[in-house]
Amino acid sequence: MAEKKLFCTEEKIYEAAAQFGTPFHLYDEQGIRRQVRELAEAFAWAPGFREHYAVKALPNPYILEIMKSEGQGADCSSYAELLLAEAVGMRGAEICFTSNNTPAEEFQKACDLGATINLDDFTHIAFLEKACGLPEVISFRYNPGAAREGGNAIIGKPEEAKYGMTHEQLMQGIRVCRDKGVKRFGLHTMIVSNELAADYLIGTATMMFELAVEIKQTLGVEVEFINLGGGLGLAYRPEEADLDVAAVGEGVRREYERLLVPAGLGRITLAMESGRLMTGPHGLLVTRAVHTKDIYRHYIGVDACMAHLMRPALYDAYHHITVLGKQNAPADHVYDVVGSLCENNDKFAVQRALPQIEVGDLLAIHDSGAHGLAMGFNYNGKLRCQELLLQADGSIRQIRRAETIADLFATLDYPDLPME
Ligand SMILES: Cc1ncc(COP(=O)(O)O)c(C=O)c1O
Repeated sequence: MAEKKLFCTEEKIYEAAAQFGTPFHLYDEQGIRRQVRELAEAFAWAPGFREHYAVKALPNPYILEIMKSEGQGADCSSYAELLLAEAVGMRGAEICFTSNNTPAEEFQKACDLGATINLDDFTHIAFLEKACGLPEVISFRYNPGAAREGGNAIIGKPEEAKYGMTHEQLMQGIRVCRDKGVKRFGLHTMIVSNELAADYLIGTATMMFELAVEIKQTLGVEVEFINLGGGLGLAYRPEEADLDVAAVGEGVRREYERLLVPAGLGRITLAMESGRLMTGPHGLLVTRAVHTKDIYRHYIGVDACMAHLMRPALYDAYHHITVLGKQNAPADHVYDVVGSLCENNDKFAVQRALPQIEVGDLLAIHDSGAHGLAMGFNYNGKLRCQELLLQADGSIRQIRRAETIADLFATLDYPDLPME
């Protein structure tokens, strides 16, 4: 079995726990920068390539600052995410707005920022026009339906997923927008999530390049950019092989040259909206064992819960666990590692072989840097935890404090509720 290593020393984690208390997500700035550069390198051949970091994966402005300093833009899907991108100084084409079932005020905010809007549905053309007028550039999100296999528990099969528009709607949408004076067009798709097979991701590019050629041939419209969405996979399990990002870049280049260049579309720029792979592997949820319980199974109760990382409960997702100070100890105990919610699926690990764990031990739950805290919630009145950044100079910075009871009760106007 391949190993899953911590991105920093155990001492660093002990230091963070002593200074800030547990639980916390710890993010590795250097790892994030390396990852972003790896993707940029893989697509260095592509004219005007830009990665728009999917803000939903880790919606923290300190992380967006890192992305901006690396030349990345942002992919936003909501009003709050647009505000975060704006706060770090992103504007115009740096931001793409890929939403669904979109409220009018969110379109208005995206228009105000000059963001590139990816329309999720044909009916959104009229809705957008009414909300803020049609911009000069519009992008359309494509859902190929049964024409393309794929999907998983996270995103669904294309024909069962709520996102994007059909082929017919997309063609009609471009026609309608062209007739209404829209000058520039883009295409977008996102039909897969957490994909580790380079070939599948390359196949998505093939599908989009063929679509661009068809649009030119049938409508006489040359699309300006193609956004291949997110979905780059993360090897959560030790036995899984990392996605070969360079192979994805190379395969997409091959398809670009095979399909777009001969069709006179060699100026199309490419974009992506990766979230998971950019920050996911560079985050750890650090939590302390507070209880042991032995009934029909052996349980380790920790001070984190689903409020801090929902993926195991939501998708039955595997997140590797390292027990600090016991990395070389045999994994000869089988535990369910659980949070404190009144939900039996509030478990970070089920029947997992681990070294013997004692109350007080620190556990590092791997790959928490994307779709981790962001998905958290306040069921049972649980408070979301702090976020720490291990900076390039080795220092640790708190980039989000933990929620307080006052935050939880802030929306309740009731006299006897304590605010501390
Ligand atoms: C529209 C859109 N773009 C990008 C992403 C990022 O996907 P990932 O984090 O899997 O790369 C998502 C994820 O939910 C999404 O919905």
